[in-house]
Amino acid sequence: MAKKTAESKKALVTGVTGQDGSYLAEFLIDKGYTVHGIIRRASSFNTDRLEHIYQDPHERNKRLILHYGDLSDANTIRKLIYQIQPDEIYNLGAQSHVKVSFEIPEYTANIDAVGVLRLLEAIKDYQENTGRTVKFYQASSSEMFGATPGPQNEETKFYPRSPYGCAKVFAFDTTRNYREAYGLFAVNGILFNHESPRRGATFVTRKITRGIARILAGLDQKIYLGNLEARRDWGYAPEYVAAMWQMLQHKKPEDFVIGTGENHSVADFVETAFGLVGIKDWKNYVGIDPKYYRPTEVENLVADISKAKKELGWEPQVKFKELTGIMLRHDLEAYGLETYAREIKLSKHAVNEPTIVQQRLR
Ligand code: NAP
Ligand code: GDD
Repeated sequence: MAKKTAESKKALVTGVTGQDGSYLAEFLIDKGYTVHGIIRRASSFNTDRLEHIYQDPHERNKRLILHYGDLSDANTIRKLIYQIQPDEIYNLGAQSHVKVSFEIPEYTANIDAVGVLRLLEAIKDYQENTGRTVKFYQASSSEMFGATPGPQNEETKFYPRSPYGCAKVFAFDTTRNYREAYGLFAVNGILFNHESPRRGATFVTRKITRGIARILAGLDQKIYLGNLEARRDWGYAPEYVAAMWQMLQHKKPEDFVIGTGENHSVADFVETAFGLVGIKDWKNYVGIDPKYYRPTEVENLVADISKAKKELGWEPQVKFKELTGIMLRHDLEAYGLETYAREIKLSKHAVNEPTIVQQRLR
């Protein structure tokens, strides 16, 4: 059989409406793929991050096709795989908020752990019945390392500290088990925190950059945060979706750690972001609210990305200060604070966000 080129490939992406899903859909469409995305039914539109690449269902030769589905619904997942016949599946769908996972642990486990089992079972069944091959990417997380000291790499022991982390460990192990037991091309990308202007507004980085814009716009007086001492290895989301694709093009199915190799505290992020708009006395604008503390915290994450560098040739270009600038500039523009925004200079690695996203993510 003739080998498929990227131009003729089909990808199925769960979580396509999320931060990573929207960047991955753009990335794959640019490569020539047809992207099928699973979206959840909601009472209001939940496709804001896709609006700039959305195509009317009546158009011919569409490159982005959306289907209703849910990771809790095995029948629909199975039906979609048979119907779409994808070459690659990227499982990015998840209840992705660590703090929220302490409040809805059973739901988190159902989607983030058992949801992955549902997908893998459907893929196994599909491969056995059709003789076709599907490559599978699982969005694993540095949160799985939890309390194990860094730098963390592919050999580091997991010690999860949240229902989210525990669910992701189950998903990681299940993905590896299906690879070993049934020969599936199934891989885990163990991604450290990655951010962007499309980051959900309740994750700490975006909460800070958006909060600063709201303070400067006169809408809020303070940003209320929790633990300022936790350290994270924060990278830039558009670069991380490229790594996902690279893992599925690798000759062998293997797991990879993806990060920047440096980490900073939440307080560092606050100080850097306020510093970019010329505010040194940031403590006047930040309050601590214990409701944002977690029952068990992950204190220190930092990636050892030697394997990804060596085997995938992947290396991030955007580091901490520029990432902070990219996010802050976007939020300043969204609130009409052009004078402040213009002062933040960015390199060529910063993706131009479509205006529609700027407007809608307010
Ligand atoms: P995100 O912005 O929160 O997006 C999550 C996506 O999952 C959304 O499209 C959401 O749909 C969808 N989803 C939620 N529940 C679902 C369900 N029951 N069935 C189907 N889809 C569902 O997350 P992200 O930052 O893009 O992260 C993508 C993936 O990478 C997640 O699995 C996350 O756990 C993992 N991860 C993220 C990071 C990071 O730093 N960003 C690091 C490591 C791993 P709605 O839009 O309808 O809510
Ligand atoms: N969200 C949030 N809100 N976090 C806060 C706040 C606050 O007000 N104040 C302090 N923090 C601290 C948290 O306690 C945590 O130590 C750190 O900021 C980062 O929190 P989040 O931005 O919520 O990210 P996360 O590290 O818990 O989880 C993200 O990264 C994981 C990869 O390590 C998510 O994207 C997960 O889905 C992902 O797997």
